[in-house]
Amino acid sequence: MDQDMLRGMMDEVKAFFAGESSGHDYAHTLRVYRLATRIAEREGADLDVVRLAALLHDVDDVKLSPATHAGKDHAVALMRAHGVAEATIRTVCALIEEVSFAGDDTVAPASIEGQCVQDADRLDAIGAIGIARAFAYGGHHNRAIHDPDERPNLHMTRDEYRRHVSTSVNHFYEKLFRLKDLMNTQTAREIAAHRDRFMHEYIDEFLLEWDGER
Ligand code: ADP
Ligand code: NI
Repeated sequence: MDQDMLRGMMDEVKAFFAGESSGHDYAHTLRVYRLATRIAEREGADLDVVRLAALLHDVDDVKLSPATHAGKDHAVALMRAHGVAEATIRTVCALIEEVSFAGDDTVAPASIEGQCVQDADRLDAIGAIGIARAFAYGGHHNRAIHDPDERPNLHMTRDEYRRHVSTSVNHFYEKLFRLKDLMNTQTAREIAAHRDRFMHEYIDEFLLEWDGER
């Protein structure tokens, strides 16, 4: 794909996310784009499709933009404006639909391209970046960082997961520590293993400090 076309779309996605602080921002999109590219190169996936889907995976997010979620209106408009072929637009939209994690109802994408983007999106929720995002999200939504009396809820459906209110530390048990076992590709499994170890070390340390033992 034409590099100028990609760069033009990146600038528009950046403008689209200006002022967004909920964790779905341009910086997240850019990290997913880079990671998805790295995974796709190792896995031999179609780089154009992976890059477009990574770049546009959150512009019609159901929480940020419920009205355009079903039709992927923002993604379609952006791709059309930059002359992406209609067949590619359809492929990219189908990939985007498949990538979002939602409780026990999650699906694994059928194509290797969808798998790369889903893995990249999930990897950005774990490790050092994931820790920062979890506490930023918790602060944004007025959640407590930790409450030992509130037990994590390990089995939620898509709707329960969306409505669920919990502490930021519980979010590690309810979602983040489970992500490494949900990676589709071998490349992402290797990256996830490293990030997951780091996150466990961090939470172990956190809980010891909480109890005054460190
Ligand atoms: P996505 O839709 O990309 O799967 P989410 O909207 O679920 O992502 O989450 C965006 C970011 O906020 C992620 O890093 C996620 O771990 C974090 N996050 C989501 N829900 C919570 C929560 N209840 N507590 C703390 N962090 C959360
Ligand atoms: Ni995302």
